[in-house]
Amino acid sequence: MTNLLDQRYGAANAPSALPTSAAIDLMLSHRSVRGYKPDPLPNGALEAIVAAAQSAATSSNLQAWSVIAVTDPAAKAECAALAGGQKHIEECPVFLLFVADLARLNRVADRAGLPHAGNDSLEMFLVASIDAALAAQNAVIAAESLGLSTVYIGAMRNKPEAVASLFGLPQGAAVVFGLCLGSAAEGKGGAIKPRLPQEAVLHRGRYDLAAQDDAIARYDAAMADFNARENPSVKAHWTVHSARRVAGQESLSGRHVLMQALRRMGFFKAE
Ligand SMILES: Cc1cc2nc3c(=O)[nH]c(=O)nc-3n(C[C@H](O)[C@H](O)[C@H](O)COP(=O)(O)O)c2cc1C
Repeated sequence: MTNLLDQRYGAANAPSALPTSAAIDLMLSHRSVRGYKPDPLPNGALEAIVAAAQSAATSSNLQAWSVIAVTDPAAKAECAALAGGQKHIEECPVFLLFVADLARLNRVADRAGLPHAGNDSLEMFLVASIDAALAAQNAVIAAESLGLSTVYIGAMRNKPEAVASLFGLPQGAAVVFGLCLGSAAEGKGGAIKPRLPQEAVLHRGRYDLAAQDDAIARYDAAMADFNARENPSVKAHWTVHSARRVAGQESLSGRHVLMQALRRMGFFKAE
């Protein structure tokens, strides 16, 4: 456990003497994987992972999410291209597309002869996206507990309407991210990437922004150590990397026009 906390925060920033459990150890061990063996998933693994995903809490039990399991090589290649050429999408045996899904609720209401104008709100888009994210993270934990690996693919939002038409999504349904799923290729298992010191994230009683500066400086040092070991080509500090990621509209890989696309796809029409 100590070792896992050292890896998760960098030894200088790790909390010590915390209670532990098998579940916490599994979560502390998480790492994204970007290289996969072609081997199919073990029998029943996909269904077990989806059962875990469906076990996540869901707003008002609406279950406003769906998942599309993509195994067809041509479809995965199209996803990889839409995501800016991310090869791991083609390599992984199963590519999961997590869908913020208000289409099912629209249909349920239609079939009951009831209105569904509430679904036209930003709130319901958030409900569906949060449901999808909670389900997906349960899927990640379940997959890792079975010895499988994953990486989220937010780049599936780069061209949301193209993704929707490729997979037959109706109005009120949008892929909010993908998730590669499979067995890590030799040497591609990844390393535990440090996170911000808890002093930056855990606020006791009241939020304090300025008090985070010291913790962020310590995190820059921890990430510099990590990158020197794992990604020597990365020279920029986390601070600089993160600032670049939010520097301008062009940093968003086309997602700066997401709102307009989502409106055309049937979301938050009332706003
Ligand atoms: C919603 C979301 C979208 C992501 N999109 C991508 C992506 O498109 N491509 C990629 O290689 N990694 C992607 N990632 C993975 C992150 O880069 C990764 O989780 C982060 O660097 C921390 O590394 P770790 O997961 O190994 O701890 C995404 C992660 C999340 C949560």
